[in-house]
Amino acid sequence: MKANNKAKLSIASLAIAGLVSISAGFLEATPVYAKGPAQQAVFATSAVSVADQYGADAAQQIFKEGGNAVDAAVAIAFTLAVTYPEAGNIGGGGFMTLYVNGKPYFIDYRERAPLAATRTMYLDDKGEVIKGKSLVGYYAVGVPGTVAGMWEAQHRFGRLKWKQVLAPAIKYARDGFVADELLVQRRDSAAKEFEGKTNFDTYFGSMKVGETFKQPDLAAVLTRISNNGAKEFYNGKTADLIAASMRGHGLITKRDLHDYRAVWRQPVEAKWNGYEIITAPPPSSGGVGLVQLLKMKADLKQDFNGVDLNSAQYIHLLAEIEKRVFADRAQYLGDPDFYKVPVAQLTDDAYLAKRAAEVNPNAPSDTKSVVAGLGTSMPEKAETTHFSVVDKWGNAVSNTYTLNGYFGSGVIAQGTGILLNDEMDDFAAKPGVPNMFGVVGSDANSIEPNKRPLSSMTPTILTKDGKVSLVTGTPGGSRIFTTIFQVITNVYDFNMPLKDAVAAMRFHHQLLPPNTIFWEPYAPIDGELAKQVEAKGYVLKAQNFNGDVQAIKINGDTPVPISDPRGRGVARVFQ
Ligand code: GLY
Repeated sequence: MKANNKAKLSIASLAIAGLVSISAGFLEATPVYAKGPAQQAVFATSAVSVADQYGADAAQQIFKEGGNAVDAAVAIAFTLAVTYPEAGNIGGGGFMTLYVNGKPYFIDYRERAPLAATRTMYLDDKGEVIKGKSLVGYYAVGVPGTVAGMWEAQHRFGRLKWKQVLAPAIKYARDGFVADELLVQRRDSAAKEFEGKTNFDTYFGSMKVGETFKQPDLAAVLTRISNNGAKEFYNGKTADLIAASMRGHGLITKRDLHDYRAVWRQPVEAKWNGYEIITAPPPSSGGVGLVQLLKMKADLKQDFNGVDLNSAQYIHLLAEIEKRVFADRAQYLGDPDFYKVPVAQLTDDAYLAKRAAEVNPNAPSDTKSVVAGLGTSMPEKAETTHFSVVDKWGNAVSNTYTLNGYFGSGVIAQGTGILLNDEMDDFAAKPGVPNMFGVVGSDANSIEPNKRPLSSMTPTILTKDGKVSLVTGTPGGSRIFTTIFQVITNVYDFNMPLKDAVAAMRFHHQLLPPNTIFWEPYAPIDGELAKQVEAKGYVLKAQNFNGDVQAIKINGDTPVPISDPRGRGVARVFQ
């Protein structure tokens, strides 16, 4: 398999090939509402699972007003930007996988590198990475995509007026919401990291557990977006304020904002176990990774036969598969508008059968023998958020979006209340050296102007016979697709109810550090199991977080939403 790391593909050429479609439409003031004929109910109810109660309340209001899953999703996204400021956002970006009127869609509203960004912008004059420069402060910020993405999705598929879907968020920003204990804990630890470096405390310092927290600047921005559409964020007063905040501190200019576009892409689609998987294409690595994991596990049916879920042997076999997925990820994944990502080859049945056959069922394979991009595996921030929505007409939305770290870069654009992301950290700040095949590992993900950094976000929908069966996703950085993989196999290979499948123990391996299995405090690998895993040659390492899955499974015609017990999420159904 050859990846052309020199390829810079013009968006126009991809659009001609039918692979992407970009719209200049978000600059129009008036969206076209998809009214359509009266729709037939397919499911008994609509349903959501979302990271907080306010997101669920917003969805409830939208469904009551006659909105569909897309309207509800857009209302949730704007609401979480207010009530879940650690990851909900309008100053970040993300991915939305949709299934509307029986067809799959995907909108990429990932942040882009500013025009002034350079390959070496985070390196010192010795060529070493400057610690923290891509994580905290103005320099870490990518051009935000959320408002463009929401506009595109609602404009194309929503049934309500744009103003209706903005209304809940405006109310929570203007009148306030009650701050939760977990939110304030996260604020406290972020504040330590940002202290003296950003204006974070000026906006979020006064937030207290159990008290109403108001964000008047953000309410004004959301009201302007409600009145003027997405062009307000990219070309209006809000754009002026963001650019003014950046001047002399960071790279984003009015031109960066004006030029930003969300992109409709073909989702990654694969057949697995009688289901159609619809998931995130590059610039996410997650959809490719998820399909590789599921197919390789199926290829190794004989080896998994009789192996208990989450036993030492199960952990070993999954780690062997994950090792190979992360080797491919490091080498071949990046922004498809700049780098020809070989998606078809990476998800091809014959290729994956060959990779699966390399798995050693008895002991961990030598890491070096699997490595495709040794030295390029970057630690990723895990603090994203996901929500899943289905409506009773059979439509579904799976949305993952992020500021990267909790509260992003810690920078609030002056006078806007908008927390800005630190997504630039998802680029490879220091691309690796050529490997034995002469391919520069991680060059696919080097920094270039307008490029989108590689992501792991994996908003996923499974359908069967044209009907939605599962909608799922999670935060977790590089743990995202290994988490979703475990939930899916728990449900479909082990026949677990979704609630148990989400609550079950999760673990993670990602090639580097060598033979290391990460475990979580929620359901630890300890005692006898830990000894057995170590005896196989693995190092166990605790991680303080392993996802916050928001999923909906359709049982018969009844959606069953489940929110991960690890977070403060809410699952709700609506008549
Ligand atoms: N920043 C996390 C991700 O994009 O996967």
